[in-house]
Amino acid sequence: MKWVIQHIKQLVNTRTNSIVLRGAELSKLPIIDNAFLVVENGIIQAYGAMHELSAEHLDGAGVIDAAGASVLPCWCDSHTHLVFAASREDEFVHKINGLTYAEIAAKGGGILNSARKIALANEEELYVQAMTRLQELMKLGTGAIEIKSGYGLNTANELKMLRVIKRIKETAPIPVKASFLGAHTFPLEFKENHDGYINQIIQEMLPAISQEQLADYIDVFCEEGFFSVAETQRICEAGIAHGLKPKIHANQLHASGGVELGVQLGAISVDHLETMNAAAIQALSNSTTIGTMLPTAAFFLRMPYQPARELIRANAALAIASDYNPGSSPSGNMNFVVALSCIQMKLLPEEAINAATINGAFAMELEKEVGSITIGKRANLIFTYPIPSLAYMPYSFGTNLIDKVMINGRFI
Ligand code: NIG
Ligand code: FE
Repeated sequence: MKWVIQHIKQLVNTRTNSIVLRGAELSKLPIIDNAFLVVENGIIQAYGAMHELSAEHLDGAGVIDAAGASVLPCWCDSHTHLVFAASREDEFVHKINGLTYAEIAAKGGGILNSARKIALANEEELYVQAMTRLQELMKLGTGAIEIKSGYGLNTANELKMLRVIKRIKETAPIPVKASFLGAHTFPLEFKENHDGYINQIIQEMLPAISQEQLADYIDVFCEEGFFSVAETQRICEAGIAHGLKPKIHANQLHASGGVELGVQLGAISVDHLETMNAAAIQALSNSTTIGTMLPTAAFFLRMPYQPARELIRANAALAIASDYNPGSSPSGNMNFVVALSCIQMKLLPEEAINAATINGAFAMELEKEVGSITIGKRANLIFTYPIPSLAYMPYSFGTNLIDKVMINGRFI
């Protein structure tokens, strides 16, 4: 089926070729005012200014009047923990009452709490819950997503999570990437025997994952009290040997060297970046490794925000993502991630939109498929209600400005 979408107030992020954006380039957001877009069989076939719309474009096409909507490529959310078995609002209330993260963990909370719930759930219920979340996210404009394991923490349950993610990948209408995060925390029985658990990851989990082709990336929570830099390196190198590129959790709570290690390993991305020092910023400067900032995790845990402006000055390639998970970011709303990036990290609206679309696509190696209005890419598109300008989107945070979302050329 062929559609011509006409009278688009602003067609946003039109690009003939895709390159990862860094430094001053991040603020350059190409826009066509009063535009049209041609979609055929779910793929963008042509676009331009209304006065360029020709009989050839219209030939055999149904016509959709955008009636003043602005049209953007869907959000590319490159960091989520979408598969989980239960929410953790009890811990949220404990934190309001003054308990620290460590005290909650000592009560059996945190990642281990989610792991106990995953152990009790079967693949079918995990799949149904995660797909329900994914449908909600698509309505909020997410058009590509990465999903991690990491609440299994033993071979059977990590494989269970990854099989659920594989099934989502096979059945969801949007592109999905899977990351193996067996190294999320040490299970209680391995608290004093790190090598025992790491051996299980390397000798049992990775070969099985590789055999069933369950993951695209290897992830590790590189953090004090979790996995050290040396342990992270060992696990990532084992993942690389199985064809999994690293995409790691780094510099969330401490500047412990995770960013530098990720860059050294040629990671696709290093994610979080709440706690950056000069060496970590220097490592990302001009690096091909993308720095993925997760501002809603900083917001929810009352942490300092990521030093976005310093990273832009250092010419780092930056993306933003939701970190959707039950512990540190129980929301996958990318509209709020974009708004918070502008409000608290002082990204310009253009920078935030680029970081959440084209650079997010690069952070999942999906830049040939999504992330911009480009001929040949999927028609995964956000249609806004009439808005006075693009800056109005992050400015009016919390207000739903999305009228319709198109996935593969069809409104959902
Ligand atoms: O990305 N930082 C580590 N992992 C998650 C939180 C996991 C949890 O608390 O369940 C994150 O913030
Ligand atoms: Fe995370």
